[in-house]
Amino acid sequence: MNSDEYLASVREQYENFPYPKRPPEDEKRTLFVTTTEHIGNISHYCFGGKRDLRDGARCLVAGGGTGDAALFLSEQLRNTNAEVVYVDLSRASMGIAHERAEVRGLTNITWLQRSLLELPDMDIGTFDYINCCGVLHHLDDPVKGLNALSSVLKEEGAMGIMVYAQYGRTAIYQMQELMRLINTGENNLQQCIDNTHLTIAELPEDNWYRRDEARWKGDLEELGDIEAYDLFLHSQDRAYTVPQVYNWLDECHLNLVSFTGFTGHKLKYIAGTYVRNKKLQSLIDKTPIDQQQSIAELISGNIKTP
Ligand SMILES: C[S@@+](CC[C@H](N)C(=O)[O-])C[C@H]1O[C@@H](n2cnc3c(N)ncnc32)[C@H](O)[C@@H]1O
Repeated sequence: MNSDEYLASVREQYENFPYPKRPPEDEKRTLFVTTTEHIGNISHYCFGGKRDLRDGARCLVAGGGTGDAALFLSEQLRNTNAEVVYVDLSRASMGIAHERAEVRGLTNITWLQRSLLELPDMDIGTFDYINCCGVLHHLDDPVKGLNALSSVLKEEGAMGIMVYAQYGRTAIYQMQELMRLINTGENNLQQCIDNTHLTIAELPEDNWYRRDEARWKGDLEELGDIEAYDLFLHSQDRAYTVPQVYNWLDECHLNLVSFTGFTGHKLKYIAGTYVRNKKLQSLIDKTPIDQQQSIAELISGNIKTP
């Protein structure tokens, strides 16, 4: 798929299925918290506890979808001189995010319906913190995507990036391959989703996805077809192992500060979380830190997102 085809398919998917599903009226009752955007966590992970984003920080949410990260940041930065800039390709997603912000009475977000690949030419200044969650692994060229983000990052700034992890999504990649075969020639998105449900219902008990189903069921039940499309039918989806994350960052001249495990569990990347045997632990301790993280990832086998 070339870049134009990629952009067209992304638009088609996210105009039809803005992600994640978030009814704006829910904002009257609940604030959706994204662990990585807790400003205390950002200060802790990215700035050694020394940076208070409420003091004039500029934050960019790239590929902001229906708004979770932008809204949570914006709420925490309410009544400060800090600002949040939201960028997404999808008009439908931005519409929902904007509506949610209006329900909350948030006024510190700038809304841009653009591709993040255009950031280097957008003349929107530089940022202290950039969130990009669940987006770069869908680009046809994730190096270009990360470089585009990096071009608007302040020298001392930091990013919170979520991309898929490979081993924990093994069952998903088998399902994606299966559904590509079954949906050959089918262009109707809803029909593709219906075919997926039919297929899942027929999977034998020892099928890889069937055995793994419990780990995905919650999101599928909560988010319905939108999640089903994103999980099983995405036209462009790649995942990273620990060494691949390091290589990717190297290519973009960036340093890894920490794996967060996305939901805040950096312990997932520490082998000692799983290993009790002292002899085995001492063998692992002798290896470099990136290798220890790889070992932890392989022992766990179930990490979905770094
Ligand atoms: C899986 S959703 C994630 C949304 C949000 N970041 C979250 O975690 O809830 C991916 C989002 O990235 C957006 N997107 C994909 N490619 C993009 C690009 N090149 N520039 C800007 N947004 C893009 C899509 O429109 C979609 O809203």
